[in-house]
Amino acid sequence: METRAVHGGMAGVRESGSHVPAIDLSTTNPLPSVEDGGLAYETLATGGVRADASSSVYQRLWQPGVARFEESLADLEGTEGAVAFASGMAALAATLIAATSAGRPHVVAVRPLYGGTDHVLASGLVGTEVTWADPDSIAGALRPDTGLVIVESPANPTLDLLDLGVVAHACGDVPLLVDNTFATPVLQRPAEHGATLVLHSATKYLGGHGDVMGGVVAANGDWPERLRRVRALTGGLLHPMAAYLLHRGLRTLPIRVRAQQDTALALASRLAEHPAVVRAHYPGLPGQDPAGLLGRQLDGAGSIIALDLGGFEVAARFTEACDLVTHAVSLGGVDSLVQHPASLTHRPVAGEAKPGAGIVRLSIGLEHVDDLAADLLRALDAAIDGPRAETDDRAQAEQDASAAA
Ligand SMILES: Cc1ncc(COP(=O)(O)O)c(C=O)c1O
Repeated sequence: METRAVHGGMAGVRESGSHVPAIDLSTTNPLPSVEDGGLAYETLATGGVRADASSSVYQRLWQPGVARFEESLADLEGTEGAVAFASGMAALAATLIAATSAGRPHVVAVRPLYGGTDHVLASGLVGTEVTWADPDSIAGALRPDTGLVIVESPANPTLDLLDLGVVAHACGDVPLLVDNTFATPVLQRPAEHGATLVLHSATKYLGGHGDVMGGVVAANGDWPERLRRVRALTGGLLHPMAAYLLHRGLRTLPIRVRAQQDTALALASRLAEHPAVVRAHYPGLPGQDPAGLLGRQLDGAGSIIALDLGGFEVAARFTEACDLVTHAVSLGGVDSLVQHPASLTHRPVAGEAKPGAGIVRLSIGLEHVDDLAADLLRALDAAIDGPRAETDDRAQAEQDASAAA
């Protein structure tokens, strides 16, 4: 994995006399002739690949740096192909269009999911109709017009785990999309367990430095072609600079993911023992992997920890007392972040499915474990003891969270 991550997507670079790939910013490309130009356009606009076309034609149809990132990610996920987009949400929207447009608008989804995913499904904004199912009721929720089943494991924000082989079996012939953002291919390769489509918010671990947005879907068979076609027609493109940064991010992905995980593992048990913590959600803690998925499906527990601090007040005081750990949305980068899902990432989620008002989500970065422990334990102490100034925003968030609870 380490070697493939470093060398993936590098074909032809050495031969070109370079050490790293060039960033090609061309939006348009010369055409060899009118006839061949037209044929190349047709090939690429219908989801074909550059090897079958005489020109890249236009950046919306093909971009060499994007293709390098896709090739490397597909290799790490163990799929035949991957298709990259401007963000994780652009990747999800394109997948929903590709899977449901042929008269199968029904989607079965298992909560919890990232709040944006939940929101786009609940709103029906891209023409889908959702049935929310428990993991055990997926098969019963399928209909003749079901185009897609969507799950996340580990799930955002509470790290709930699903046995993907069991889920894939329940889906039968219906395509299964697994959001693998939290695990990354370093810890879990859902296609090996029957997933049809593997989605990432590349903005998170794949980029890894909090400075690039992107999304990517890895898949087999005709799915990459179908997704490229949707991308060509709807235009949710990954920019070449973003593709370069994401491709570079993959080169250190295994090392970062494992180092962040080691720190999270060491922190989780210390945080769980603090009197402010009602429950620490982390698959690596005793009793939190009843199905025995660690080692079988998931090569490690990752570096996201959710703490249930019992109520909104303590959760808000803790979040605001963190200092080295930045209060900000997103996750998976080299620096640690904390956020309150019910107020932020999962704000649009319907009341009954919203994360509890006492839950905070930590993304553990690459800082020294002792520095993180000092900051987080001090913030937990402060959350129990300290008063918190009121602001309008906070009062509103509190109101929302208690309404949700
Ligand atoms: C699990 C998961 N999936 C998808 C997304 C959406 O990705 P993006 O923000 O890159 O659009 C996120 C973003 O937080 C996420 O956490």
